This record gives sequence, structure tokens and C-alpha cells, in this order.
Amino acid sequence: QILILDFGSQYTQLIARRIRELNVYCEIHPFTHAPDLTEDIRGVVLSGSPCSVRDADSPNPDLSAYLGRVPVLGVCYGAQLLAHQQGGEVLPATIREYGRARLSHINQHHPLLHGLEPGSQVWMSHGDTINELPAGFLAIAGTPDVAVAAYEIEGQQTFGIQFHPEVTHSTDGKRLMRNFVVDVCGCAQDWTPEHFVDSMVATLQTTIGEQDQVILGLSGGVDSSVAALLLHRAIGSRLHGIFVNNGLLRKDEYEDVLHSYKDLGLNVRGVDASAEFYAALEGLTDPEQKRKAIGRTFIEVFDQEAQKVDGARWLAQGTIYPDVIESVSVNGPAVTIKSHHNVGGLPEKMNLKIVEPLRALFKDEVREVGAALGLPGHILHRHPFPGPGLGIRILGDITPHKVDLLQRADAIFINGLKEHGLYDEVWQAGVMLLPIQSVGVMGDERTYEQVVALRAVTSVDGMTADWSHLPYEFLAEVSNKIINQVRGINRVVYDISSKPPATIEWE
Ligand code: XMP
Repeated sequence: QILILDFGSQYTQLIARRIRELNVYCEIHPFTHAPDLTEDIRGVVLSGSPCSVRDADSPNPDLSAYLGRVPVLGVCYGAQLLAHQQGGEVLPATIREYGRARLSHINQHHPLLHGLEPGSQVWMSHGDTINELPAGFLAIAGTPDVAVAAYEIEGQQTFGIQFHPEVTHSTDGKRLMRNFVVDVCGCAQDWTPEHFVDSMVATLQTTIGEQDQVILGLSGGVDSSVAALLLHRAIGSRLHGIFVNNGLLRKDEYEDVLHSYKDLGLNVRGVDASAEFYAALEGLTDPEQKRKAIGRTFIEVFDQEAQKVDGARWLAQGTIYPDVIESVSVNGPAVTIKSHHNVGGLPEKMNLKIVEPLRALFKDEVREVGAALGLPGHILHRHPFPGPGLGIRILGDITPHKVDLLQRADAIFINGLKEHGLYDEVWQAGVMLLPIQSVGVMGDERTYEQVVALRAVTSVDGMTADWSHLPYEFLAEVSNKIINQVRGINRVVYDISSKPPATIEWE
């Protein structure tokens, strides 16, 4: 594997993505917790950073455990750090380089730069520049403004590059990463979904005791479903999936998803707890209170069901890599660990150990593993759906009647997207039931009925989003169908706000 030492750059995860795309396994570790060099580690990448090596409190770890022993590639700050540590001169650049630049001279025989042509576009993002290389350092590429765009340390396989090969704007960046990871470090390109499945199944079989039972909360989403399939392959029916109907799922979703799981041979128990959730939500209008009530009820219901499983020793979770990467904070490198779990105190109460088979995978790798395990497309490519479900898409208080109205309007919209081949072009879509009534005419009568807003967005990760420019004809058809088929709704509007400043959900 390749070890990536993170100095807090916004691009560190991208380095990992590029290496994984080469079918080579890699891990990100904060520079404050650099692991010991083991035989597994075939090379090290030092990431960029928002800091300057000239600042007294900037990251400056001792790298002697790696240097000269395995190939090391410093990227941007990583490159400046190596030069700085060994007596080179790093100064504020007279011409600050941000954005596109072109390599004007390249040592094309160099193993790191093999296949790159003069004129190759690279992406720069730095305010400092390496003015003078230490003794024993050799420049191997430059741009018209930056004499040292890449260097090597003679006699050891240590390299520095001033640009960012991990961003797609560096057109030969992928080639450079391949040169480093495959040619220089000698990594085998065998990190494939099939390989992951085989090795994870073997790991699960040795970790989980032969009599141990494992509990997993299923949501119908990609992550928990893929985790279930992996565990099922490893331990069969000793995996006990629990799928809770909170009464706030999409129309027919509870039955459909339960069916799909059973078709896959999974040992899954469905629990219809709609009544408990509606009771907990009665009269609540504040979004955060609603979320809390839904979360609390989920834990109660899940706990009750989990305790029915004899011999349970493990709680499995669908945690994925972006949730566990320890991120380096920019100001005074502190380390924070994100965690997102809604299992409450169950592990302590039942003395359960946690197993997270997907914790090394990025989202698209989870999908590839799911495909390799035969997960059907309608689960694999599902839009994200919030845990509190329709509970945060009914603005104001929640009643079974409102859930029914919204489920029917939502089904018309989502099925319409599928029928028109638009579903996969949209990152997430849904309908919001607004807490207002508007006037309409039906026949000779004036009506006062509910308004719904359609929401569809394009996005990469949900952090930012743009409203989807869906065809007018399609919107017209959906609007007509909703008003004609769902009694109680007489007006449909389309949300054309982007995030930021708006959000995807309305609550
Ligand atoms: P916003 O509305 O903040 O949503 O732009 C971003 C993404 O997060 C989802 N979301 C939630 N997911 N529990 C969840 O599990 C929640 O309380 C929640 N609120 C928003 C939302 O659907 C979108 O994908």
C-alpha cells in the first residue's frame, strides 16, 4: 500500500482517490500520527497544506523513518518541506502561481516524468516557491515562472513536485501518479472490487467467532445494503438485519426493499413501527425536535429488536472512508475524528463489538463492491434519502394523512423521473409538503388546498448543489398528474434555489 501523510490540504482525499483508481490501496494518516514503516508500505506521499514552511508553527515532522528507505513523493507543501528541512531556501514567490501553468522543460527520461511532454498543463496552488535547492537535490522539471516544478534527491528515491497531480486540471497528473506508484514503488495493481470482496470476507470470517451473531440496521440505502451482502457472504444467516419502517419512507418502499433483501437471501427482519413514530411526533412542528423524536424512537425500536437476537456479539455498521478519515485542522494542527452513528448506547448496553466492513472505501468503491456482489441496480443507484425521511419534507406537524398525500405526490415525481430517463441525471429529488393552503378553482367552486414543492438537484457530495434544469414539459406533466390524482393538493411549484445559500431539504 501507499501511505499518504496529510498536512491539511483540501486535495488530500483526491490523492487517495487517484491512487485507488490505479487499483492500488492507500491510506491517509495525519502527519501527527505517522505510522511506523512496515513491509506493507511501498511508498509515501506527503500532501499539500495551507501552511507555509516559513512559519514557525507549521507542520514539520521528522521524516527520517521513511526517507531513503521507501520512495517518497512530496506534493506542493510536501516538496517545500523536504527542501526546507535539508537546508534549501523557500521564499514567498514573486509571481504567485495559482491555477494553470505549463511545464516548459522536463527530464523525460526520468522514471517519475516518463510520458509527460513539454507543454503539459499542470495545476499550481502555492504562494511559496523553492528558490534554492539543497545540495544533492536535482531539478527535473520547470515552468516559465517556477524553475523547480519537480526535483529528485540524488541517490534516494525521493521526489518533490510543486504542482498538484491529483487534480484533473493537471492533464498528465494521472500518468505521473502511475509512474510513482507502479513504476517507482512497484505496487501491484490488484486493489479491485473482487479482490476486496475476497479479502474482506476472509477477514470477517476470522474476526467474527464461529458462534457469534451479528446485528445490522438496514435502511435500503447503498452502504448498509453492501455491508449486509458482505457479511452475508462471510457468515450467512448469522447476520441479522433489522429494517425499521418509521412510517416516513417513500410509498411502498418498506415492502419493496424488504422483498429485495429477501430475494438476495439475506436474513432480515422487518419491523413496522409507524405507529410509535407517529405517536412520538404528534404535535411537534420544530424541525430539530422532529429529528430528535425520530432518532430517539429509532433507537428504542432498534434496541428492542436487537435484544431478541440470541448470542449477538457484534453490531455491524455501514461506515465509509470519508466518515473515518482523521482530518488535519488548518489552525494549529489539531486532529478531529468525525463519527456518525445513530445506534445510541446499544454497544455498551448489550456489550457488542463494532464491525465496519466498508470503513476503507469511498462511496463509488462501495457501489463497485455492491455491483460485484450482485446488488440490484435500483438499490445501487438510489438517490440519497435522509434518515428522518418524509418527516422533514412535511413542513410543520406530521399526521398519517399528510404522509399519505406526500407519498403519492412523491411517487408521481420519482416514477416520472425514472420513466423519462432523468433519474440518473439528478443527484437527489423529492417533494416537500408546504404548511399553507392556496386558493384554486375546481368546476364552479373555489377550493383551499395544499401546495407541494418539487425539489431536484445536481451535486457531487450534497455539500453544494444546483437545482436541476428539468424540461418544462416534464414538469408540466408531473404537476398535472399530482393535481389530478392526489386529492387535497391544488398547486405545484418548482424550487429553483441552489445550495448555498439554500439547502437541499426545506427543514
Ligand atoms: P441539506 O438539506 O442540508 O441536505 O442541504 C444535505 C444532505 O443531507 C440530507 N439530510 C439528512 N440526512 N438526516 C440525514 O440522514 C438528516 O437529518 C438530514 N437532513 C438533511 C439531505 O437529504 C441531503 O442529502
